[in-house]
Amino acid sequence: MNIGPYLLPNQFFVAPMAGVTDRPFRQLCKKLGAGYAVSEMLTSRPDLWHTPKTTRRANHAGETGPIAVQIAGTEPLLMSEAAAYNIDQGAQIIDINMGCPAKKVCNKWAGSALMQDEALALHIIEAVVAVCAARAVPVTLKMRTGWCPSHRNAVALAQAAERAGVQMITVHGRSREQGYRGQAEYDTIAAVKAAVRVPVVANGDIDSPEKARQVMAVTQADAVMIGRAAQGRPWIFREMAHFMATGTLLAAPLVAEIKQLAVEHLQDHYALYGDFLGVRTARKHIGWYVKTLPGGADFRARMNLIDDCRQQITAVADFFDSLNELTDRIPGRIQNASANEEEKQMETTT
Ligand SMILES: Cc1cc2nc3c(=O)[nH]c(=O)nc-3n(C[C@H](O)[C@H](O)[C@H](O)COP(=O)(O)O)c2cc1C
Repeated sequence: MNIGPYLLPNQFFVAPMAGVTDRPFRQLCKKLGAGYAVSEMLTSRPDLWHTPKTTRRANHAGETGPIAVQIAGTEPLLMSEAAAYNIDQGAQIIDINMGCPAKKVCNKWAGSALMQDEALALHIIEAVVAVCAARAVPVTLKMRTGWCPSHRNAVALAQAAERAGVQMITVHGRSREQGYRGQAEYDTIAAVKAAVRVPVVANGDIDSPEKARQVMAVTQADAVMIGRAAQGRPWIFREMAHFMATGTLLAAPLVAEIKQLAVEHLQDHYALYGDFLGVRTARKHIGWYVKTLPGGADFRARMNLIDDCRQQITAVADFFDSLNELTDRIPGRIQNASANEEEKQMETTT
């Protein structure tokens, strides 16, 4: 499928996750088969653009294109200025965040809260599209099914967004009120797909190749987007692409390969964040890598005490070497964390 002029290699996308899908992780996912990646959300507040956090998020050096940047905010003018700013920083696609449940911008709720005010949501979309169209940059939209289970307005908003010029719509199959609780539902995503002509991406609780195929079948979506299931398991994208192409499951990856990619991921991570912040922010990724592996819980506890990059990377390499003594392939599958754990993650990372 295409987003504007950009032809994507496959229909398995990594979801934007603040505090997770930074440039090193996006690159890793793309290397391991993700057809598309969107940046962590960037604030539309210009007074924050030069903070270390936003500067890091807007740094796309060396990233494989197309470079898609998500912006979050509540004011049409600020959002359009943020789009222009990020295009100047290298963004080739601008994604508007109406899907995130936890972000407060300018003392107002942004993200999925905007779905409650369709008129404002549309003003934002129109303002961003106007600025991007003048620069030939496609605009995409990420949203939820609606504000609450009794107010599912995704179809109406998707149709209005399409009329306004949005070129792809991603729907997370939960309402804003649900947060990450309960199960994602796919009927609303199917209804959105049936109601618009632009590509639709299904998102929510997709954690295996079989589930990806099932969700694509029931929604008829053009692509699926994977968030939490890619944490610590970025090779899930090639597993999905292989299953879709052949109907068979790939063998679990070799421990030696995962050791190598985890080490390289850490090196890229330290290069972006610097040693002090890097060693600390890498802990969550390492925790996800080892979460379901034998000895993973003990290792995670020990590793959290290490505050030196070299020691951390050596500890990770040693962990995988020891695992390799037991088995040459990564055992088991990582399941989504509990809803509570996700809520906690959102609070600490966004
Ligand atoms: C830690 C975390 C951070 C997230 N940050 C964002 C974000 O910045 N922008 C956004 O649109 N959605 C964000 N999300 C939502 C995801 O993109 C995705 O819609 C959601 O996790 C459901 O997909 P999943 O079940 O595959 O995880 C975040 C989710 C998590 C868990």
